[in-house]
Amino acid sequence: VTRTNLTIDSDRLWATLMETAEIGGTPKGGINRLTLTEEDRRVRDWFAQTVREAGLELGIDQMGTMYATRPGRDPSRKPIAMGSHLDTQPTGGKFDGVLGVLAGLEVLRTLNGAGIETEAPITLVNWTNEEGARFAPGMVASGVYAGEVDQAWAMERQDRDGVRFGDALDAIGYRGTEPVGERRFGAMVELHIEQGPILELEGKTIGVVTAAKGSIWADCRVLGRESHAGSTPMNVRRDALMAFAEFALASETVAPQNGPDGVATIGVVEALPASRNTIPGEVRFTLDYRHPDAEALDRMTRGIDEAASAIGSARRVDIQIERIWNKPPIAFDEQVCRAVETSAAELGLSHRTITSGAGHDAVLTASVVPTAMIFVPCKDGISHNEAESATKEDCAAGANVLLRTVLHLAG
Ligand code: GLV
Ligand code: MN
Ligand code: MN
Repeated sequence: VTRTNLTIDSDRLWATLMETAEIGGTPKGGINRLTLTEEDRRVRDWFAQTVREAGLELGIDQMGTMYATRPGRDPSRKPIAMGSHLDTQPTGGKFDGVLGVLAGLEVLRTLNGAGIETEAPITLVNWTNEEGARFAPGMVASGVYAGEVDQAWAMERQDRDGVRFGDALDAIGYRGTEPVGERRFGAMVELHIEQGPILELEGKTIGVVTAAKGSIWADCRVLGRESHAGSTPMNVRRDALMAFAEFALASETVAPQNGPDGVATIGVVEALPASRNTIPGEVRFTLDYRHPDAEALDRMTRGIDEAASAIGSARRVDIQIERIWNKPPIAFDEQVCRAVETSAAELGLSHRTITSGAGHDAVLTASVVPTAMIFVPCKDGISHNEAESATKEDCAAGANVLLRTVLHLAG
C-alpha cells in the first residue's frame, strides 16, 4: 500500500459508529449522551480502551479532554490533531461530533494497518462538553485550551439541577492531571456533518469550511409581579410571560433584519412559579444568536437590547440579558483549508467552500492552532434531532479526506 492509494475501511468506520451509538441510544434511533453523565463515562471508557488497544498513548487534561497520540518519526515536531466530541444533545443524532472522533480513530487504525510512519505525531482529541446542552456554554474545554475561557469559571458552571461541572467531572472519574493547553499542535482538523442543507442541495460530497459564524449565548430573565389570575384586571398586570412572548417574537424579527444569515433561538423557557392560577412573576430563558459578520452580530445585539428595554418599560417588567458566551466570527487557516481542498480534489470528490453556522471546537482552537474543518452532507440538513442521518459513503469520503489532509500536514 502506498500513501497515494491508502483509504480507510468504511465498514469498520460504520460499525464503530453504530456500536457506540448504543451508548445512550434512544428508541427513536438517536443518542442522549449529555456531557459528564453516566453515558458519557461509558463512551469515554470505550474510547480509552479502544485507543489503547490501537497502541496509542492516552492523556487526559484537567477539563477531561482526552488525547490519544500515535508517535511520529520526528518527536520534536508538534502533533497534528484531529478531533471533535462524543457528547450529544438530549435528543441528538448519531453523527454530530461522533463522526469526527470515530473517523479520526479510523484514520489511525488505517495508518497502523498499513504500517505507515508519519514525520509528526498525530493526536486524536475527544473534547469535553462541546454541546453546552447540560453545562452552558458549549465548547468550554476547547475554550479553556485556547485561553479564551477561564478554567476556574468553567469548573463552577452549573447544570439545571445545580450540579457543578467540576463535581460532575470527578463523579465520572475523568478529571485529568494535565494542565489544559499545555499540549500544542502543529494543526487541527475536525471532520463534521454539515448540519445544514447546502451540500445535499448542491449534490456536493465535501465542504471545505473556511469560516464560522460568530455566536452569543445569554441567560435571560423577565421580572414582573406575581398576582391572582382571577382578580387582577388585565390592565394592571405585570405579567412576565406575556412580556417574554413579545420579546421572543422581537428576537425572531431582529435576526432577519440582518440578512438571511442572522439567526436567533430561545431553547429553554421556564415560567415561575408555574401555577395555573398565578400570573407568572418571573420567566427564565436562554437566548442564542449568531451571524457570520461581526458588525451584523453587533447590530443584532443592539436590536435585542433595544427590544428588551422597550418591551420592559411598556409592560413595567425588567428584562435582563446576561451574556455568558461571545465568540466573534472566525476564518479558518488558509494553508490547512488548502490541504483539505487538495485532498478532496486528489480523491476526485466534489467539493465547495462553506461557512459553518454551528459552533465547533475547531472554532476555538483556530485562535491558537492553524485549524480547518471538513463537512459532509447530512440528510435534509437536519441535526440536533434524533432523525439526523448521514450515509456510509459520505462518512467514508469525509474520513478519507481527513486521512489525506493529516498525511499532507504530518508528512
Ligand atoms: C453546537 O452544537 C452549537 O453550534 O451550538
Ligand atoms: Mn458538533
Ligand atoms: Mn451539536
